[in-house]
Amino acid sequence: MTTTQDKDRVLIFDTTLRDGEQSPGATMTHEEKLEIAEMLDDMGVDIIEAGFPIASEGDFKAVKEIAQRSKKSVICGLARANFKDIDRCFEAVKHAAQPRIHTFIGTSPLHRAIPNLTRDEMAERIHDTVTHARNLCDNVQWSPMDATRTEWDYLCRVIEIAIKAGATTINIPDTVGYTAPVESADLIKRLIAAVPGADEVIFATHCHNDLGMATANALAAVAGGARQIECTVNGLGERAGNTALEEVVMALKVRGDIMPYYTQVDSTKIMSVSRRVSTASGFAVQFNKAIVGKNAFAHESGIHQDGMLKNAETFEIMRPSDVGLQASSLPLGKHSGRAALRAKAKDLGFDLADNQLNDIFVRFKDLADRKKEVYDDDLIALMRVGENPENDRLKILSLRVACGTGGPAEAVLSMEIDGVKLSATQNGDGPVDATFKAVRELHPNKARLQLYQVNAVTEGTDAQATVSVRLEEDGNIATGQSADTDTVLASAKAYVNALNRLLVRRDKTGEDRKEINYRDMS
Ligand code: KIV
Ligand code: ZN
Repeated sequence: MTTTQDKDRVLIFDTTLRDGEQSPGATMTHEEKLEIAEMLDDMGVDIIEAGFPIASEGDFKAVKEIAQRSKKSVICGLARANFKDIDRCFEAVKHAAQPRIHTFIGTSPLHRAIPNLTRDEMAERIHDTVTHARNLCDNVQWSPMDATRTEWDYLCRVIEIAIKAGATTINIPDTVGYTAPVESADLIKRLIAAVPGADEVIFATHCHNDLGMATANALAAVAGGARQIECTVNGLGERAGNTALEEVVMALKVRGDIMPYYTQVDSTKIMSVSRRVSTASGFAVQFNKAIVGKNAFAHESGIHQDGMLKNAETFEIMRPSDVGLQASSLPLGKHSGRAALRAKAKDLGFDLADNQLNDIFVRFKDLADRKKEVYDDDLIALMRVGENPENDRLKILSLRVACGTGGPAEAVLSMEIDGVKLSATQNGDGPVDATFKAVRELHPNKARLQLYQVNAVTEGTDAQATVSVRLEEDGNIATGQSADTDTVLASAKAYVNALNRLLVRRDKTGEDRKEINYRDMS
């Protein structure tokens, strides 16, 4: 039996709303960020990195409001190593019951070369900025970015300076996902032994997944003495992403026998937050993703199904209910009412306001008319974000497509654009191409299609298709999603949804996220 003590507690620092949101195309709306922060707070995440307040007015407002609404979690904001960033960060987080400033600078030779600071100049900058942060806030985290490629002696030196200047948490980022588990454990262990004052602070680990080792590296760092893991829901994050929150939480829970550490995260809330982050970010979770993938608890082969029926432990090392998956309950049908829909939505992690329920109920009835049984996954697809017809400037009124072997596909499309009804007919290389051309005829734009992805939500030829479309225009990226039993209509709606999001971003030019230059320390 494993006994756990306070020294074995691992703090979970979630950076979905900062590092996760930095991932190209994962931009979330203000409301989505508030909702996700509330879910993280509620599930027992210790620290929420809510954003990068200097990055934009929008980031600042989100961090501030998350701070104001926080209940149990510490609310943290990111700041580069300059007074202006740090002041702006504190302005936003100070509204939290427990605020934290997280300031960082790239310490490896490659990163030092960019602001062109000598070792001594950078050491002085670290001393001054951490001191400044600590004068504002009692809770200060400092990170030497690219720590795993920083020279050992210099890393020890700058960590000591940060601790002396008042940092309370020292985070060791593997910024480029270069390290391996054995090194990760060893590095933390050696730092704790070598740096004066190290036993007075908490060491954190922040791993990227470029070589697919982020979770293993984070767990190894804990074995080496780290007591804070930085992670994101679904492993969202720059490039290949960060350590996945659900993976470390469940690994520590399931393998307490060899990793006698614990977190205070309520694992039964994992599925609902995973779904919410996926819908908000527009990043679908891969089917075979550990813990939260659609197939993570599915058993297809005869041998496996037979074993599962006799004893679930034959092929399951954790129960679906441990991560908040209910044994699939009865599907809803066309006779189900609003109360049943609201209750089911809640079960699936969507707390619907009355106006949202009304909108989804209409779409649910429409779907139930076309599809005999509406399964959980169908409903999740229906509740995907971004369908907000009242505020959308572009709306699809009707679409008719003809295609076959006799010639190009033809799409006849009617739309309402800023209140004006318009129609277009276009030919194309297949029905989706013809439809997208018709949309472009009615709403000329220079957005570039970066991603077009179709998934079937449930089985059968009447399954809904969920379509994700990512567009890029003048550096702005927007993802649109839609679901329908008609794949071409779902594609059209997802495309128009992404265009609507780009229009919102264009309208708010003043609020657009500035291009963040991590190395610009001015
Ligand atoms: O990956 C990284 O180094 C970061 C820092 C800002 C902590 O995200
Ligand atoms: Zn990072």
